[in-house]
Amino acid sequence: MVEFSASILNCDFTRLGEEIRTAEAAGVDAFHLDVMDGHFVPNISFGSPVTKHIRNLTKLPIRAHLMIADPVEYAPRFIETGADEVLYHIEVADSDTLPKLLEHGKPIGVTLNPDTALESVYPILPELSQVLLMSVFPGFGGQSFIPETLQRITALKCEIERQKLSLPISVDGGVNPQTAPAIREAGADILVVGSALFRSKDYAAVVRAVKGG
Ligand code: DX5
Ligand code: ZN
Repeated sequence: MVEFSASILNCDFTRLGEEIRTAEAAGVDAFHLDVMDGHFVPNISFGSPVTKHIRNLTKLPIRAHLMIADPVEYAPRFIETGADEVLYHIEVADSDTLPKLLEHGKPIGVTLNPDTALESVYPILPELSQVLLMSVFPGFGGQSFIPETLQRITALKCEIERQKLSLPISVDGGVNPQTAPAIREAGADILVVGSALFRSKDYAAVVRAVKGG
């Protein structure tokens, strides 16, 4: 069964507590915080203070997806305020980035934009907690799923198996009840869903449909 990770980017922030509780009651498995700095992506979302609020609202895993130019500088603040896992972008990393992030003792995952070569992360797979494949270009929720992502999921899964690792693949962007079956079929383990959940009238129905239950 795939994991459903709820992205709060498009939730109703005027009712954040209620949204978190309702999503948890609907069966989401984790919360995904889309952090944007206006440099790496052309949008600004929220910072570590939001992590602290979410941490006080749920015991579920909180993952910080850092769409920011300097993850080494800011990751500690998300960890200190309650993030269980940090996902950085390979596009802004150098050879020191992952070792420095791992110093904080938390699981670290890597994220790739749709046009970033999968091979760019093959050497570091053994040190990662997951690989997040963007199925939209980062910056905004509510975009359409890029279908070429399906082949990327399958190719990455082959490489993970070749390296004899058990490393989850996440997919983020345009994931909804319509796109989820093909994403599951391609081999993804964690589906990040934002708009399709928080814009729906029945969160539990969306969770069931995306998980294939
Ligand atoms: C893109 C963000 C979104 C967000 C959810 O920068 O990372 O992908 O998670 O997107 P939707 O609303 O398409 O589920
Ligand atoms: Zn995200």
